[in-house]
Amino acid sequence: MTDDRAVALEAIAAQVQTCTRCALHKSRTKAVPGAGSPYAEIMFIGEGPGYNEDKQGLPFVGRSGNYLTELIESIGLTRGDVFITNVVKCRPPENRDPLPDEMATCRPYLDEQQAIIDPLVIVTLGRFSMGRYFPGGKITAIHGRPKYEGGRAYIPLFHPAAVLRNPALEEPMAEDFRRILDVLAEVKRRRAGDVADEAPAEAMAEAPIEVPPPAAPPAKTAPPPPASPQRSLFETLPPEPAAPAAPPEPPPSPDDNKPTQLSLF
Ligand code: URA
Repeated sequence: MTDDRAVALEAIAAQVQTCTRCALHKSRTKAVPGAGSPYAEIMFIGEGPGYNEDKQGLPFVGRSGNYLTELIESIGLTRGDVFITNVVKCRPPENRDPLPDEMATCRPYLDEQQAIIDPLVIVTLGRFSMGRYFPGGKITAIHGRPKYEGGRAYIPLFHPAAVLRNPALEEPMAEDFRRILDVLAEVKRRRAGDVADEAPAEAMAEAPIEVPPPAAPPAKTAPPPPASPQRSLFETLPPEPAAPAAPPEPPPSPDDNKPTQLSLF
């Protein structure tokens, strides 16, 4: 049983690595399916591969990846304890924003990864993954605030690259990270039947935090049946609606080499 999830995730990775369903495959060096534990309780979802990720085929391995690793370790975990992936699995040329049709085309891969891993907490990094779970959400108002739904929590966080560009976000980001394990414990409590999903989370009741402008292996519930490794996700999954449009705000760059932007994401 132990390897079922790993086998299913590897089957998805194999499909991602040879995927030609959108134009991003033409300019990629390597596709980046995601990495981490098939049994992760916490799943991090970023935007898309940048320069370093495209070269290595691994998520978050550049400067913002090093920072993400530091943050994960700051709460006593390692990258091997969690699962890290992106909304699009191939690098957009010049690190432009992923297009809605690219996100929609790539969506079955992320949907299936999420279904296989069945994480208790999903942490979104930046506005594109936030838009998937918090349509219309504004990061300055909702960052670090968990939403409890369907026996899981979703936490929107700043994109690590945005924090690197704006040191004023470092402390709020560190604080949001420190909250992740509390949220995980709360999900376990709720799954154990102590608290209903509908009860508002205490964190949601707090006033929005003003963000200063930029300066210049635990027990899990039963896993869902993994998808057949032999069949394409696009054959096995029902059609999904396109991802909701992200709020019209300046984007983060998944590329650590990209010039400084003023976006919070
Ligand atoms: N930024 C992202 O959003 N994802 C990565 O994998 C790397 C940088």
